[in-house]
Amino acid sequence: MSSATTHVLVTGANSGLGLGICLRLIDDFLNTHPATSSLNIIFTTRSSRKSKDTQRTLESHLRRKHPSALHARVTFQPESVDLTSLLTVLHLARKLNASSLPHLNAIICNAGIGGWSGLNWPKTIWTVLTDIRNATTWPTFKLGIVGSVTKSQLPSDSTAAQEPALGEVFCANLFGHYMLVHWLMPLLRACPSTWPGKVIWVSSTEPQRHHFNESDFQGLRTEAAYEHGKRMTDLLSLTANQPSAHKSVSTYTALPKQSAASANASEQPGRPNNGPPRLHLYHPGIAVTSVISLFWIVHQAYLLGIYLARWAGSPWATVEPYTAAHAATWLALTSERDIHDAEMATCSSSTTSETGVVEGRIKWGTATDRLGKTTPRPTEVPDWGVNGSGLPYAKDWWGGVGGIGRKPGSMEATKEDVQEFLDLGGRVWEGMERLREEWEGRIKEAEESGAIEKHSKQ
Ligand SMILES: NC(=O)c1ccc[n+]([C@@H]2O[C@H](COP(=O)([O-])OP(=O)(O)OC[C@H]3O[C@@H](n4cnc5c(N)ncnc54)[C@H](OP(=O)(O)O)[C@@H]3O)[C@@H](O)[C@H]2O)c1
Repeated sequence: MSSATTHVLVTGANSGLGLGICLRLIDDFLNTHPATSSLNIIFTTRSSRKSKDTQRTLESHLRRKHPSALHARVTFQPESVDLTSLLTVLHLARKLNASSLPHLNAIICNAGIGGWSGLNWPKTIWTVLTDIRNATTWPTFKLGIVGSVTKSQLPSDSTAAQEPALGEVFCANLFGHYMLVHWLMPLLRACPSTWPGKVIWVSSTEPQRHHFNESDFQGLRTEAAYEHGKRMTDLLSLTANQPSAHKSVSTYTALPKQSAASANASEQPGRPNNGPPRLHLYHPGIAVTSVISLFWIVHQAYLLGIYLARWAGSPWATVEPYTAAHAATWLALTSERDIHDAEMATCSSSTTSETGVVEGRIKWGTATDRLGKTTPRPTEVPDWGVNGSGLPYAKDWWGGVGGIGRKPGSMEATKEDVQEFLDLGGRVWEGMERLREEWEGRIKEAEESGAIEKHSKQ
């Protein structure tokens, strides 16, 4: 494969937003990149049937929308991974590391689950009828399952079998991706230094300060495990270039230990080690997908409700996954310089505030107008503001402080709030690194004892 090929990995690509991202990557790439360049979409699903269906959908979109010879410029590479199974995550990383891929330009950490059992119907009806715009953007009516854990990670006869529980929502949405990204560092670090690799974390409009409880790191004791994990995603991504996270980020973005990166050292082709990837943060707004399972008729009512919210002026009511994908594909395909310039345009004169925050890291969301025209837009994050300054939206961005894209009751973050966000981000990074090392140790032990090999042969 030529170095003029852009390689993008998208997880959870068979439905919803993941499929929308892949479809939009095709269009945005072909519409913006020169005819000499090509795109390889590496997409993951959880079964070969889902992979085949996804590939068919992508190919048919490509032929329909780009009927000329252009379609020879886009290739698809189906892969399989279950993010709640660290061994399948490791298997995928080893397979890609040992392949002929020269580098990986971007990983979009999209796959995920809600972990909800249903809706609180009286509350749903009341909040939607009285304030549809806010009820759909910051819902308070989902019923979360408490304490759901993954299946055992290691074979029961391994010496490391006395393993601790891993939260299911935590692992599917965050930790599985966290490990995948670390194990794929050989490919991410091989990107040219002029166009570094990118990790695009997928968050949501929803997480607030109160959702994250440091003493319940994996969100095992809360009904809001989903929002808890998304708040962690915000904390990790936005503090990644801050002094408080420096030590943990350096070990995380370093090349993994040989055994983790590749089962067999001789399999790993020599690639350049040009530097760490950049971490970006994205949310899709509100798109109608199967992330929450609803009866058909309720699903249709939900779809109508989100359209109504859009027509009522909610900038985050993106509705369709393809529309919602805009900010993700923009982050994946735009140069770091242009993203940096867009981030700096939100800052005042200096990029380092009085509190020492390196300003400018932004949670990029897909915003829409009433007609569905989208733009990647900065999103306010509690205790961070829009860019680490603590301040909310710029004045020209849907009406400033009281604007309709802002969660009602949001407050500007004080210096102390931002400092607390930075400290917390540093501690979340430390916790994630600790967990990664513990699990790498257990997997290594189980591999060395032969238990994993024995189990895979059964
Ligand atoms: N929809 C929204 O409005 C919205 C808003 C904010 C954020 N998001 C985020 O967008 C992402 C995608 O959600 P969606 O709305 O598109 O939901 P979706 O339609 O349910 O899609 C989820 C995708 O993730 C895959 N997946 C689930 N668990 C997995 C696991 N353990 N390992 C590997 N793949 C797994 C699913 O595969 P299977 O088909 O095999 O289950 C599916 O492909 C999530 O991170 C979600 O938090 C969505």
